[in-house]
Amino acid sequence: MLLRAVLPVLAAEGRTLVHGLGLRIGGDGERWAASLGFARSHGWVRQQLVVADADPALWDVPLPAGYRLEQWSDVTPESLVASYARAKGAIHDAPSGDSSFRFPEWTVERVRQAEAECRERGVEQRVVAAVHEADGEVAGLTELEVHPANPGEAEQQQTAVLAEHRGHGLGLCLKSAMMLRLLSDRPAIVQVGTTTAADNVHMQRVNGQLGYVTVRAMTEVEAEVAALRRRLE
Ligand SMILES: CC(C)(COP(=O)(O)OP(=O)(O)OC[C@H]1O[C@@H](n2cnc3c(N)ncnc32)[C@H](O)[C@@H]1OP(=O)(O)O)[C@@H](O)C(=O)NCCC(=O)NCCS
Repeated sequence: MLLRAVLPVLAAEGRTLVHGLGLRIGGDGERWAASLGFARSHGWVRQQLVVADADPALWDVPLPAGYRLEQWSDVTPESLVASYARAKGAIHDAPSGDSSFRFPEWTVERVRQAEAECRERGVEQRVVAAVHEADGEVAGLTELEVHPANPGEAEQQQTAVLAEHRGHGLGLCLKSAMMLRLLSDRPAIVQVGTTTAADNVHMQRVNGQLGYVTVRAMTEVEAEVAALRRRLE
């Protein structure tokens, strides 16, 4: 009923695709979606880091030469926002399987808009960025959110390193620094979760080194709005 109700709204807005995330493989949700004609488009894994089970020594990671770390919450410093927006574009290199979803082209305006949306929702957005000392530009970043309704848990968001800066362990360094700073500022955090593409070997290797364990295999599904309307209306 909910899907049927929302389809005309989507069509009126000119949207063509319905896209579902985080369905447990073989679970009731996936069976329901498949019965309506949704097709699997990409595999994902849910990973969790339980603070009490983790070894903080894993997060003692040296910073590669030639970089410095910067961190902030909620508002990107004006001096870094242009190169931060550029570095966020490195997320386009993440594997996307058969999914039609594409991350946006990040601009300074979009970064500021996303920050405003987090503020409106009361979400704390924490960022750690690696700055390339030679040119002062952001080379890589990791983002994490803490939601007001769930102060004991944090959710890792995007991590991305520009292609020309990969292979120095910046991903591990950034996410380690994030863990140390998060727990120092917010000792009440008991666990951190993240969702990573099932075929993203590079990100999953880093997560494993930090102490994340995979707790669930999931799939993303999608279906054309027009096909769903033919079936349901
Ligand atoms: C995940 C990511 C941040 C890791 O970057 P990193 O910290 O520089 O990776 P590492 O230093 O651990 O790399 C280890 C090895 O894997 C290689 N590697 C890392 N990422 C790679 C990629 N996306 N494609 C090909 N090779 C890659 C490195 O070159 C290095 O190879 P080497 O040992 O021969 O030098 C980076 O791959 C990336 O930005 N990917 C695109 C965005 C993404 O997938 N983000 C995760 C989704 S939230």
